[in-house]
Amino acid sequence: VAQLAALVLAAGEGTRMKSRHPKPLMPVCGKPMIMHILDQLELLGPERVLVVVGARREQVIAALAQRRVEFVVQEPQRGTGHAVQCAQGALEGWQGDLLVTCADVPLVRATTLQQLLDTHRQERAAATLLTALYPDPTGYGRVVRDAAGAIVGIVEERDADAAVRAIREVNVGVYVFQTPALLEALAHIEPSNVQGELYLTDVVAVMARQGLRIAAFQTDTPQEAMGINDRVQLARAEAWCRQQICQRLLRDGVTILDPTSTFIDADVLIGADTVIWPGVHILGRCIIGAGCTIGPHAYLVSSNLGEGCAVQVGAVISHSQIGAGCSLGPYCHLRDHTQLADDVRVGSYTEIVRSSLGPGTKALHFSYLGDAQIGARVNIGAGCVTCNFDGRQKHLTVIDSRAFVGSDVILVAPVHVGEGAYIAAGSVITEDVPAGALAIARSRQIVKPEWVRRRFGDQLSPNA
Ligand code: UD1
Ligand code: MG
Repeated sequence: VAQLAALVLAAGEGTRMKSRHPKPLMPVCGKPMIMHILDQLELLGPERVLVVVGARREQVIAALAQRRVEFVVQEPQRGTGHAVQCAQGALEGWQGDLLVTCADVPLVRATTLQQLLDTHRQERAAATLLTALYPDPTGYGRVVRDAAGAIVGIVEERDADAAVRAIREVNVGVYVFQTPALLEALAHIEPSNVQGELYLTDVVAVMARQGLRIAAFQTDTPQEAMGINDRVQLARAEAWCRQQICQRLLRDGVTILDPTSTFIDADVLIGADTVIWPGVHILGRCIIGAGCTIGPHAYLVSSNLGEGCAVQVGAVISHSQIGAGCSLGPYCHLRDHTQLADDVRVGSYTEIVRSSLGPGTKALHFSYLGDAQIGARVNIGAGCVTCNFDGRQKHLTVIDSRAFVGSDVILVAPVHVGEGAYIAAGSVITEDVPAGALAIARSRQIVKPEWVRRRFGDQLSPNA
């Protein structure tokens, strides 16, 4: 079987982004551009993946720490051809094919990469280019062919005359090479262009002159070939990628009422028959079960939701684990590793932080639960507050199963409410409550009969 190595060019300065961050890490639909590429490359099962890093490379290397990649350093950055030259040492003796791709061409699908590779192998080419046909090819390198249609070179926009600029077939920046032929051709490129750089694209003309076979595969989906050099292109890529994500989910049985106002990140998974209302954001890594309803205007970040949950208008849920059959919102805020078991109900204006709620527990109205471990079938009354912070440290509130916490109860942590205990409304609980007990911690009501008449005479009150 022919072997495959992949080389991702990610060393460029990314000047046109005008950013302090490295371009390869800029996200498209919540996922760094280079991660989009690495994930698609992985589906081809390459033996090796090399990444050329240079500008702001500490950040790029740190972001890829968990990936199975080899780093090649390009310093200084003297062009895409120079970037590949820097990998020469690492590729010494590599006889397999080399798939070269750019970190700023993030949306090429694995199926397209596979077709490119298949074309390369079927045609026994020395180089095979991925090309796209654009109505407006401005900014891309153009694929120049001779009268017979054979590829003779790639000319950059900056170096092109009017005739070449009129060519609409562009170089995507994704190529497969026979590695030895590529390394040989790289020795012959010159920085004789407007930018004074060593262009990888120039190896195509070198190879053509050497009489080597240059093949091409043209994508039928030009949008996937977008190169992202500035933020206008980034926004365009974002829009297209978002549309693709919604279409994939729709095909998988998710109802999205208005895909144009729904923002779902690249790595989100959603079960069938879930219904997503307009204005919903589902960001980061989320796994949403089947048969949920979400929104309108709910905001979920890196959280998992079990089957059959109802997430209502204005719910904000981040970094939390939600069981099946839960009902959340309207307007609730769950954050920082909150864990809800099955059939939990969290209602309007309730905030939950670093807490766990057992199955069937309810906190329906206006509560704050922070650093709380709450058991099963607990009732949290309206306006209940855990005082988890003493000004220096956070403390735990533990409420055992089937406890009943009345409205407007203040729980001063650390405190423990035993199983099945009752706490009277309006209590300020500073001591543990044993299982099965009733705690009342409020001053007794005093009623003074006839007090108003004694105070104000026959008139009921001064304002009456
Ligand atoms: C490049 C291609 C162009 C193609 C376009 C597609 C060249 C000369 N031109 O142009 O034909 O149409 O991509 O999007 O290759 N990089 C390095 N080291 C460097 C310079 C760049 O690693 O010294 C990396 C960048 O990080 C980037 C990629 O190579 O990921 C492409 O560089 P960029 O400057 O964006 O090239 P384009 O002008 O877009
Ligand atoms: Mg580019």
